[in-house]
Amino acid sequence: MSTAEKPKAGLEDVVATSSAICYLDGDRGVLAYCGYDIHDLARSATFEEVCYLLWHRRLPSRAELGDLQSQFAAARPLPEPVVRLMRSLPPVDGMDALRTLTSALAHYDAEASETSPAAQYRKAVRLTAQVGTLVATWGRLKAGGGAIDPDPVMGQAANFLYMLTGQRPNPTAIRAFDIALTLHADHELNASTFAARVAAATLTDIYSAVVGAIGALKGPLHGGANAEVMKMLLEFGETASSERVEDAIRAKLARKEKIPGFGHRVYTTEDPRATHLRQMSKELGKRAGNTKWFDMSERIEALVKGEKKLNPNVDFYSASTYYTLGIPIDLYTPIFAVSRMSGWTAHILEQYANNRLIRPRADYTGPAYPQRFVPLDQR
Ligand SMILES: CC(C)(COP(=O)(O)OP(=O)(O)OC[C@H]1O[C@@H](n2cnc3c(N)ncnc32)[C@H](O)[C@@H]1OP(=O)(O)O)[C@@H](O)C(=O)NCCC(=O)NCCS
Repeated sequence: MSTAEKPKAGLEDVVATSSAICYLDGDRGVLAYCGYDIHDLARSATFEEVCYLLWHRRLPSRAELGDLQSQFAAARPLPEPVVRLMRSLPPVDGMDALRTLTSALAHYDAEASETSPAAQYRKAVRLTAQVGTLVATWGRLKAGGGAIDPDPVMGQAANFLYMLTGQRPNPTAIRAFDIALTLHADHELNASTFAARVAAATLTDIYSAVVGAIGALKGPLHGGANAEVMKMLLEFGETASSERVEDAIRAKLARKEKIPGFGHRVYTTEDPRATHLRQMSKELGKRAGNTKWFDMSERIEALVKGEKKLNPNVDFYSASTYYTLGIPIDLYTPIFAVSRMSGWTAHILEQYANNRLIRPRADYTGPAYPQRFVPLDQR
């Protein structure tokens, strides 16, 4: 392609599709799912209501929500061969395990290659129900515990904590985790959702599309950042003085290292999700009688804002939130997927419903055409 106009690196500001799912205004710090402000949803909705909203573009009635909850409950248990496969995997990274195991789920879904909208929707529900069980069970087995069956009476958030820890979670933990799921559910054309839509636009199956999305989410520039944040905080250490933390951050910035959990391609102001996670990290820390990770995070935020004018993104305070909830670091990015499965599948269904192959062009920068072909024995 020869064009006078060079594309901006990373498709910055490119509008690549139309979508009715997520409204994002990076300059005003607005995030809304199907018109509903994320602050209202975080305060008042459950993750199940949010799933319904993303898939149907409207909030459910009580009866519709009850139906979805029943569908989730029925779909949550994993096929036995997938649990066996899980047990047979080496102790790999959580996202690598999630990628393999999500792919394996397709082999035990009788509707895997069904393409009717009703079947695609049922698969979206199953995937969203099962990804929580996958991640919690993986975490439990990795920690040496036995797998725990999901409880049909509990919702997605409560079940996740229950299957991970083996203990009935308290209402504060359930609510905090539920809000975290709501906050991560969708975010317009982020890298993993775009990957999912590109795959879906070839009319491949929904499992293949979400496996591609999981691969994209794993990277430290995307969902992998939440684990990187906690590793950084732990590296400083619980007893590190403010001076030591600030010196270390300044040194990282001087070396032009990225500070995980800061910056965003779209937001020029505060990421509205960070507002809730900051508050949650603080409250959970207070309840647990240890606000050290929150305090350290706040100091880092002030410094990075001051030095680089960068705001924390969704990943920064989710790290200390999950840590305070007692969740292993290896599960932080998989938990992002537990939530984002709802958004990925909503986008995949939207893509299927009005599809055209996504096939952009590249600005060619290689050797000039034509090159004279030299046979192998003359080179
Ligand atoms: C999110 C992110 C990938 C957005 O990337 P982007 O839009 O391509 O922005 P760039 O990487 O081009 O950054 C623009 C400038 O800000 C700086 N910057 C961006 N994020 C930074 C960070 N977290 N720490 C330090 N500097 C950062 C870059 O070094 C660059 O500076 P320069 O112009 O002096 O070279 C980027 O901010 C980042 O890598 N953040 C850390 C990882 C993270 O938290 N990811 C989760 C996103 S939700």
